[in-house]
Amino acid sequence: MLQILPPRPPLPTRLRTQLESFLVLRRNFLELWGQPAYELEVLPGRFLGREQLMINAPDAIRHVLVGNADNYQRNPATRRVLQPVLGGGLFLAEGEAWRHQRRTIAPALSPRSMPVLAHHVVAASAAKEAELATLTHRPLELLPHLQHLALAIAGQSMFSLEMSGFAAELRRLLMSYGLRYAQPGILDLLLPENVPSLVDRGRAAFRVEWLAFLDRLIAVRSAYPPPGDRPRDLFDMLAAARDPETGAGFDHAQLRDEVSTMILAGHETTAVTLFWSLYLAALYPEQQERLAAEAAGAGLGADEAAGDLTRLPAIRAHVDEALRLYPPAFLIVRQAQAADSIMGHPVSAGTTITISPWVLHRHHKRWHAPDAFDPDRFMPGATPPERYAYMPFGAGPRICVGAQFALTEAVLVMARLLRAFRITHAGSGAVVPRAMVTTQPDRPVRFVLAPR
Ligand code: HEM
Repeated sequence: MLQILPPRPPLPTRLRTQLESFLVLRRNFLELWGQPAYELEVLPGRFLGREQLMINAPDAIRHVLVGNADNYQRNPATRRVLQPVLGGGLFLAEGEAWRHQRRTIAPALSPRSMPVLAHHVVAASAAKEAELATLTHRPLELLPHLQHLALAIAGQSMFSLEMSGFAAELRRLLMSYGLRYAQPGILDLLLPENVPSLVDRGRAAFRVEWLAFLDRLIAVRSAYPPPGDRPRDLFDMLAAARDPETGAGFDHAQLRDEVSTMILAGHETTAVTLFWSLYLAALYPEQQERLAAEAAGAGLGADEAAGDLTRLPAIRAHVDEALRLYPPAFLIVRQAQAADSIMGHPVSAGTTITISPWVLHRHHKRWHAPDAFDPDRFMPGATPPERYAYMPFGAGPRICVGAQFALTEAVLVMARLLRAFRITHAGSGAVVPRAMVTTQPDRPVRFVLAPR
C-alpha cells in the first residue's frame, strides 16, 4: 500500500452550534461531519427545527433506497434549487412519471449504447490533447480544461454538434446558475415550497433564458437529416425512445427537460472525477507509470475505444478509488412522505434522511485504512466492497442512469491523457476537497504536463 495520505479536510474537534453548522455547510459540506459520523450506523438529529436522520448502516440504506423507496422522495430544497434547470426531467420526477421516464431513457445509456458514446468521448478528448500539447512544461490549471472537455463530451454525445458555436453560451449560463442559484440558502431550507424567495424569482427568470437556449440548440440539431439504421448520438436515441410498457415517447417539452438533465447531471460530476483521478495519479508517480503502461497497450481509437475498456483494469480501479476518496455526489437526500421506522428508529413524515457517499466511503466499520489511497481494492479478484458501503452513483431504482457512460468517459480520457503526458504537481499548497454542488478542490491546482 502507498504511504502518503491523500488530502481531506480536518475533523471538527468539538460539537458546533446550529449557526456554526449552517456556516460550515455554506463553506464546505465535508467539514460538517465529526468522528462519530464515520463510526456510527444511524445518527438522529435536528437541523433548523427539522428532524434529520443520517444513515450509514447497509440495512437502513437498503430500506430507504430500495425496500420502501416510494416513501422516500427528493426533498423540497433539492426541487427548489434544481427545478429551474432540470424541469420535469428524470432527476426530479417522482412516482409513475418517473417510472415512465426511467424505462424510456435507460436503454439509451445501457452498455449497448457505449460504442456510439465512446466515439464522441475519444473525438473530444483528442481535440483537448492537441490543445494541451501546446501547453506543456509550464504550470497549468487542469480543472478548467477538464470541465471544458466534459462539457464538450456532454454536448457532442448528446447532439453530435461541433459545440464551438454554443459552448461559450452554455458555459456562461451554467456558470451563472452555479454561482448565483445552485447552492441552497437558508430560505431554501425554511420556506414552505409554495412560497418563492427573491432568489427563486431569479431562478425562474433563469429558466426562461435556459429554455430559449435549449430550444435554439434543439432546432439546429433537429434540422439534421434523419439517422440511418444506427443512432448518431443520445439525441437520436432519446427522440426515438419509447416506453417499453406503454409505447409512449417524449413530447418536445419533455425531451428538452431530459436533454437538460443529461447535460447537467453528467458533465461537472465527470469533470471532477477526472480531476481527482489525475490529482491522485500525480501524487503517486509509480501508480501513474503503471497506468501509462496499461494505456500504451490499448488502441484507444474512436471506433475501437468501447472494446478497449476491458483492457484497462488498472485505470478502471484507479478511477473507482478516486470516486471512493472524492465522490463527486457527496450527499444523497430524501424526505419521508409518511411515518416509518428505520432499524428501530421511529421516522415521522417530513424527516430528512441523509446518506453521504463521502462518509460511507471513509467509514471505519466498512473499510480497512479508509483514508489511504489503495486502488488495488478494486482490481479484478479483490474482495468487492460490502453492499451499500461504496455508492458513488447511489443505489436502488434511482441509481445514476448515466453511471456506465461516466465510467466509460473517465477511463478512456484517463487512458488517453496518461498515454500522451507525464503529469506532475506544480506546488499548489495544501489542497483540500470542498463540497460545493460537487466535490471540488478548494483552490486552483497547478500541474506540469510533459509529453511522453
Ligand atoms: C462520475 C459521474 C457521475 C456521478 C458521480 C453521478 C452520481 C449520481 C448519483 C449519486 C445519483 C443518485 C442520486 C440520488 O439517488 O439522489 C445520480 C443520479 C442521476 N444521474 Fe448521475 N452521476 C454521474 C454521471 C452522470 C451522467 C454522465 C449522466 C447522464 C448522462 C447522469 C445522469 C443522472 C440522472 C438522470 C440521475 C437521476 C436518475 C433517477 O433519479 O432515476 N449522471 N447520479
